[in-house]
Amino acid sequence: MARYKQSSINEVSRRSDLVELVSGYVHLKRNGTSHVGLCPFHKEKTPSFHVDEDKQLFYCFGCGAGGNVYDFVMRAENLDFVDALRFLAQRASVTLEEEHGTYNSNHDEEALLRKRILEMNRLAARHFYENLLKPEAISAQSYMQRRGLDKKTTIKFGIGYAPDQWTDLRDYMESRGYTAEELVTAGLAVKNEKGRIYDKFRNRLMFPIIDVRGNVVAFGGRTLGEDQAKYMNSPETPVFHKGRNLFALNLAKQVGMKEGLILVEGYMDVVSLYQRGITNVVAGLGTALTEEQARLLKRYASQVYVCYDGDEAGQKAAQKAIALLGEAENVVKVISFTGAKDPDEYILKKGPESFRALIAEAHESVEYQLLRLRRQYDLYDVSQKITFLGEAAKILAEIDNEVAREAYIKRLSVETDITTEAIKAEVLKLVYYRNRKQVKKELYNASTPERLNVDVSGVNQGQGTATYKTERILLNLIFFHRRAWELAQEIVQPEWFSGEMHRELFQRIMTYRRDNEEVRASDFITRLSEESLKQAAVSLLYIQFEGDSVQAMREAVIKLETEYLKKYAAKLAGEGNVKEASEIYRKINERRG
Ligand code: GTP
Ligand code: MN
Repeated sequence: MARYKQSSINEVSRRSDLVELVSGYVHLKRNGTSHVGLCPFHKEKTPSFHVDEDKQLFYCFGCGAGGNVYDFVMRAENLDFVDALRFLAQRASVTLEEEHGTYNSNHDEEALLRKRILEMNRLAARHFYENLLKPEAISAQSYMQRRGLDKKTTIKFGIGYAPDQWTDLRDYMESRGYTAEELVTAGLAVKNEKGRIYDKFRNRLMFPIIDVRGNVVAFGGRTLGEDQAKYMNSPETPVFHKGRNLFALNLAKQVGMKEGLILVEGYMDVVSLYQRGITNVVAGLGTALTEEQARLLKRYASQVYVCYDGDEAGQKAAQKAIALLGEAENVVKVISFTGAKDPDEYILKKGPESFRALIAEAHESVEYQLLRLRRQYDLYDVSQKITFLGEAAKILAEIDNEVAREAYIKRLSVETDITTEAIKAEVLKLVYYRNRKQVKKELYNASTPERLNVDVSGVNQGQGTATYKTERILLNLIFFHRRAWELAQEIVQPEWFSGEMHRELFQRIMTYRRDNEEVRASDFITRLSEESLKQAAVSLLYIQFEGDSVQAMREAVIKLETEYLKKYAAKLAGEGNVKEASEIYRKINERRG
């Protein structure tokens, strides 16, 4: 991975206009220096997505997504920082210059680490693969055979074998110049309480998880023995986030837009279908489908066929996946089958032609949900019929397309012998309530940004309290107003801030101010690599402050210092130091008077 000069990075952000960029994704309406539209990162009906032209920041008051041009591209295009930079550089016709010599910026270090982990993963994948070919891998080979997997498939997926030994991979990687500690960082080895480091994957069939750019980002390993955990996945690492990847998307992405993608539960299902000619298949990574995966599918698939296991757990998971996929605006169909527990077993028993027929017969997701519902009720029983219609109305209320909704209502009417008018009235009532609730929620969020979905794990005191708001205003003032910053250097103490998050931001803002003549919010944001810190920063830099900044600064300072002194005095009193405590209280009261 290349490392680019900071000057190149600056050049790219200077030549990229966030408003213009976002306009390619979202219809924006101007409102002063702010531009407003429907958030591309969550589903909403009233616009709460704002782009500030001067600050070159975006912020959604609905879901808390925010940042600068890079963050926007990273999210919208699902890219990492370097790729987002390249994307924008190309757009702005900037030639990126690579850095030579030594580096110390955060991005560079992170990029180096990621690169190293990817190298380790690739090497490990090759090692696992070669293991599988060795004569001593007979147990793994016969397992593959028993499951009907051939040589070609092994190569296509890069399937490998981790033998039943403690340090097979460790020894190999050490011989190639990687340390055991590095292996732990890459998630390929684990360290026990005694500090001993050994291979994470042992006696397992190994499935490399490869991203759309062809990087081996992680592994899934199926036990060949009696291990409690049938599958084991790599942990989260700097190159792997379970929720953001799909197994085999690297192979399926070419055909996804043409044929749609089939989403299954297991690695084995993917591999087995693929070998039998169904190549547009992907799987989650052992967790329930995430919003990010649903968005990823939207990007690579014209439609998504949900094909989960036939058991109760599988069908429950399918329901959830369907809802998430719908929210990300995927066209969703459902493949159902009987006579087998999962797609792998099905295709082995009935053959590829039979599976293709299932695809052709796949139900549109509403259809599928109604079918499922109908099976639970006896429509000859009036009270059951009423419950059924109530539940069905809920499903129909979720459909945005009125023609489709009308069509289902007609059919329900025939099936239940209840008039279309009565069913329609029920559905529209639900639609009305849903919309009202949605609008109310968005208005509420927009007027109280403190209540946003921002990760405040570092904050130990009530977010949304008056103190918390004052801290936000103070940090905003210090950032944007030179005089406020000068005052802050003399008087503001880090301890005044009630939580780690604000304390950290205070320090970073002070340093940034000191090192940079020109202050740019979007530039500052680029340097915050911690996601939670970045979110907090964007949300407080987004505050539009009007009025006398110095006066506001004074008020904030007095308030925060008083709060701090009160806490300090209380602590002293608690420790029995009553005299000093009352002295502080006296000073506080004097100031008030
Ligand atoms: P086979 O039994 O080999 O056919 O597995 P499968 O591919 O049919 O998997 P199954 O339906 O049992 O599980 C679906 C997916 O859930 C797997 O591919 C894994 O990603 C995940 N999974 C299953 N068991 C475990 C487990 O014990 N631990 C973890 N972390 N994930 C699991
Ligand atoms: Mn299976």
